[in-house]
Amino acid sequence: MSGAAPELGFVHRWDPRPGATRTLLLLHGTGGDENDLIPLGDLIDPSANLLSPRGRVLEHGMPRFFRRLAEGVFDLDDLRAQTHALADFIDKAASAYAFDPTRLVAVGFSNGANIAASTLLLRPATIRAAALLRAMVPLVPTAAPALAGTRVLIAGGESDPIIPPSTTDALARLLEGYGAAVTLRWFPGGHQLTRGDIDAAREWLAPSGTA
Ligand code: MLT
Repeated sequence: MSGAAPELGFVHRWDPRPGATRTLLLLHGTGGDENDLIPLGDLIDPSANLLSPRGRVLEHGMPRFFRRLAEGVFDLDDLRAQTHALADFIDKAASAYAFDPTRLVAVGFSNGANIAASTLLLRPATIRAAALLRAMVPLVPTAAPALAGTRVLIAGGESDPIIPPSTTDALARLLEGYGAAVTLRWFPGGHQLTRGDIDAAREWLAPSGTA
């Protein structure tokens, strides 16, 4: 199912799976849309429901989840506003589609990974597990989020020119500092995802009965 569904606040795609217990929240990168990560979701967990919103900000016509002033320099007011809008969307979607929000796993790539990280930091009760593929520190919250019990996979590209490895490391330390259980994995290559990223996400997710 796909559509504007204006009452939920985001254009999105909802692909339910019969008998699914887990829902993957798919968050695309800059220039993507709600269809981009559906194949990735299928590879990571073919039995999960898929909820895939489209970022509401346009940068030269390319959808993103929040505004930036330059590459890696974020408009923090917009980031905060869009983060709360996304968290509200998730809450409303859980009611509208009757999925269990405690079994929601965010899977974000690049800009999508950054807003997933921002959601963990600003609205920690919304997402209990997240695979952040090519992510950096989006912001440092003024109030410490309680992330004990939250599982996070962070996957970085060793020579990513867009997300320098030091910023990915900093995100891992920040989330750990707030109590999250962080698995940090590195893959040869740059910003693009590799088979290794997909396998790592599937393996990280599979044994968990928690999300
Ligand atoms: C961002 O803007 O979130 C990051 O720079 C990644 C991207 O290029 O989308």
